[in-house]
Amino acid sequence: MKRLEGKVAIITGAARGIGKATAILFAREGAKTVIVDVLRDEGEETTEYINLGIPGGTALFIQADVSEADDVKNMVETVIKKLGKIDILVNNAAIQPVGTILETDVNTWDRVMKVNLRSAFLCCKYVVPHMIKNKSGSIVNVASVLGLRGGDKIIAYATSKAGLIGFTKSLAEDLMPYNIRVNAVAPRAIDTQMFRAYRSEEELKKKVGRYLFGRLGRPEEVANAILFLASDEASYITGEVLVIGGYC
Ligand SMILES: NC(=O)c1ccc[n+]([C@@H]2O[C@H](COP(=O)([O-])OP(=O)(O)OC[C@H]3O[C@@H](n4cnc5c(N)ncnc54)[C@H](O)[C@@H]3O)[C@@H](O)[C@H]2O)c1
Repeated sequence: MKRLEGKVAIITGAARGIGKATAILFAREGAKTVIVDVLRDEGEETTEYINLGIPGGTALFIQADVSEADDVKNMVETVIKKLGKIDILVNNAAIQPVGTILETDVNTWDRVMKVNLRSAFLCCKYVVPHMIKNKSGSIVNVASVLGLRGGDKIIAYATSKAGLIGFTKSLAEDLMPYNIRVNAVAPRAIDTQMFRAYRSEEELKKKVGRYLFGRLGRPEEVANAILFLASDEASYITGEVLVIGGYC
């Protein structure tokens, strides 16, 4: 028996990286997978990989900017029209500009809060009514270890992820009466374009010994944790944050 047989799952930011690995794993586990991203080419590529490369795999690509209310509303309406319900939502899309408070301008701060935090609020706002109708659902927010312990030269991103953790815990309380679970994962150093964007190969070689087991995590290792929290195997878990890759 596949672990997500018959489920419909929306994964934001699923064109590449952790979101892509999650969409592929969910499809392998029997979910009808909705890939939401601003990136059309990569999003369509991931969708095609699932539809053609995974036996029984079903994926739908919707191009949307999840920080915009109209895009999210239309995306959710399309999913309901085409797939009839929503069982799982993974809020994964994010951006990661670096900088201290002196280096971070007001527009960058606002953009990070919009893409990393408001997006989760919007997706939940429009998805939750459909989950309430079914009296079940599972939401997984992709936070970061930086949201738990902070970090240097990354003030806006770390703050947005701390906000996402607060959002996760409060939403879990609100949605308990409806049998909807809300959890978060907090990865540390995962080998994706986001992680490599502001670190040179040289810097990475110097630092890699500090990470858990002396290496970067793989997107698939985060996907496995998201799958557990999204699936019925975690039926008695809500409001939790699962750290992946060690705390410090
Ligand atoms: N890579 C790491 O080390 C690491 C560590 C901790 C947390 N995370 C979190 O994991 C998640 C995935 O990150 P990743 O490393 O795979 O990064 P990534 O940059 O490879 O993927 C992020 C995806 O989100 C999409 N996206 C960005 N803004 C969007 C928007 N407004 N609307 C729709 N899609 C949008 C991007 O196009 C991209 O496909 C993020 O929430 C990130 O903060 C990553």
